[in-house]
Amino acid sequence: MSSYPKINPADATVLITGSTQGIGLATAKAFANLGARVAIGDLNEDLAKTEAQALDALGGYLDVTDAESFANFAKATQDNFGPIDILVNNAGVMPNGAFLDLDPQVDQMTIDVNVFGVVNGMRTVLPQMINRGRGHIVNIASLAGKFPVKGLAIYNASKFAVVGLSAATRLEYAAAGVSISAVLPSAVDTDLASGLDMRPIPKVTPSAIAEAVVASVGNRRAEIAVPSYVGGLATAAGLTPEPMLNLIRKAIRDDRALSQDAPERHAYRSRINDQAANSSTAQKRVK
Ligand SMILES: NC(=O)c1ccc[n+]([C@@H]2O[C@H](COP(=O)([O-])OP(=O)(O)OC[C@H]3O[C@@H](n4cnc5c(N)ncnc54)[C@H](O)[C@@H]3O)[C@@H](O)[C@H]2O)c1
Repeated sequence: MSSYPKINPADATVLITGSTQGIGLATAKAFANLGARVAIGDLNEDLAKTEAQALDALGGYLDVTDAESFANFAKATQDNFGPIDILVNNAGVMPNGAFLDLDPQVDQMTIDVNVFGVVNGMRTVLPQMINRGRGHIVNIASLAGKFPVKGLAIYNASKFAVVGLSAATRLEYAAAGVSISAVLPSAVDTDLASGLDMRPIPKVTPSAIAEAVVASVGNRRAEIAVPSYVGGLATAAGLTPEPMLNLIRKAIRDDRALSQDAPERHAYRSRINDQAANSSTAQKRVK
């Protein structure tokens, strides 16, 4: 049991970013099923509204890379449902390919979404949570925040950043009654992982991650790997001598994410390329 002031999910206001599909939507459904007041914020405003309607939730436009957009959506959430008790920083993107083959615009957009999106979310909700002496923030990081993978260098960098950001802010705000947890999924069956064969890393369902997020409201654990044993594997890998680890990596063919050719991944790649092309900060990166 945690010593943080209790939050009852059935009577909580929950803002979830990037929640029109995948892990975010599964999390929105899990909280809504418990009776929580849920806000679905996403770049895809129409879909956010449609999904929200089905859950009796609030849906609207949110670009997590833009602090003003975050403040506006948080205000709309609060105006509708009262103060935010739980923030789930879920929005994320995952480009893959050899480091030198990655597009600098997409690099910038990835750091903007995966790192600054989380920073913006925490900066938006923390002051009020501290004033109220209670609140819970869940940052959806990744096993890739602990374990480097060939072909995911920028994604690894972004998720290592989220793990560090979550751990340091957790220390800073515990005394104020606000908990910050990092959830570390392995591979999850969503668009983001489409066409990537990450075996033997297990692929789980979005609802398995949603269950872990909901459970974190009770347990408030610092780091929550899903499935739980992959957390131990990442720790063990960190303790394994490099030559031995490299043999294991070779045996499991750890270089598959280097390839950008999987046809099943084309739709996802073109979606994130478009997102980077439409991002003003990502455009500045290559000027
Ligand atoms: N799928 C996996 O294998 C896996 C594994 C570990 C961690 N994760 C993490 O889980 C989170 C959710 O990923 P998913 O697998 O559900 O992906 P997904 O692609 O299915 O969904 C991501 C959602 O984020 C939204 N989004 C992207 N940029 C945004 C922005 N700037 N502002 C607001 N919304 C934005 C998208 O519109 C989409 O709805 C990500 O942070 C991802 O890194 C995923």
